[in-house]
Amino acid sequence: MFKVQDLRFTYPKNKEETIQGISFDIPKGTIFGFLGPSGAGKSTTQKILVKLLDHYQGEITYDGKSLKELKDDFYEEIGVCFEMPISFSKLTGLENLQFFANLYKNQVDVEPLLKRMGLWEDRNKLVSEYSKGMKIRLNFIRALINQPKMLFLDEPTNGLDPMNARILKDMIKEFKEAGGTVFITSHIMSDIDELCDEVAFIANGVIVAKDSPRQLKIDHGQKKVIVETRLNAHLEKHVFDFNELSSPRFIELCQSQTIETIHSMETTLEDIFIKVTGVKLHDHD
Ligand SMILES: Nc1ncnc2c1ncn2[C@@H]1O[C@H](COP(=O)(O)OP(=O)(O)OP(=O)(O)O)[C@@H](O)[C@H]1O
Ligand SMILES: [Mg+2]
Repeated sequence: MFKVQDLRFTYPKNKEETIQGISFDIPKGTIFGFLGPSGAGKSTTQKILVKLLDHYQGEITYDGKSLKELKDDFYEEIGVCFEMPISFSKLTGLENLQFFANLYKNQVDVEPLLKRMGLWEDRNKLVSEYSKGMKIRLNFIRALINQPKMLFLDEPTNGLDPMNARILKDMIKEFKEAGGTVFITSHIMSDIDELCDEVAFIANGVIVAKDSPRQLKIDHGQKKVIVETRLNAHLEKHVFDFNELSSPRFIELCQSQTIETIHSMETTLEDIFIKVTGVKLHDHD
């Protein structure tokens, strides 16, 4: 669906390139996660992909056609959630959706979307009276209003409570199951792990790791098991390689009935993030 080759971008006022030559493909019907520290260039990349920033170098194609040559009907095919929700605060939630729907040829019925996102009751309330999470949910519905083939989601679950985040993630999965393609950024690694077919980590303007979440966890994890045993007041830790799990030492331990906990030492996307980008996660609320 999208093919990005050696993308480079410098903001007009800056000297240094924000994006320093990145390449990736997003196959049709997949979810691509774009991760990296704050200021790494995730939102910038999304803005380039949706044609809001055009002075880039490199080659980007959408559905086989050069992005630079695409006309406004490109916008008929995509849905975008920006980092900051955009809506008219002096209009109601419903009026906002109607306004944006009128910009497109294709329009969906908003009632089921408003109901699913828990905004139906508040549809006639002014957006200025919406809470942060309500604005975020409205923003997500807006991205779906033209029945897009591709969604761009910049931190879509940031600021949502767990229940609403669950609904939104389920809707992203359903969008993919129906054949849609998704580009998503998030600082919530568990969301990325759950949703994405492939992820890329960007740091200092370049992609430092790219693979499926599962493969990344296998490549960066340790094939080890950690066992904690307790004999009276004595707590002990034992570490075994996977290939030692049939050893007499491990079997004896299992039979000793002193085991309190047993865990494989698989890694998490969060640990991989810190390892490959070389920074600690920021505390996004
Ligand atoms: N309009 C702009 N003009 C100049 N520099 C900008 C502009 N927008 C962003 N930048 C710079 O580009 C870099 C990348 O910003 P970007 O918003 O893409 O980061 P991000 O990866 O989305 O970060 P976050 O996780 O905080 O959202 C930062 O150094 C930022 O200061
Ligand atoms: Mg951003």
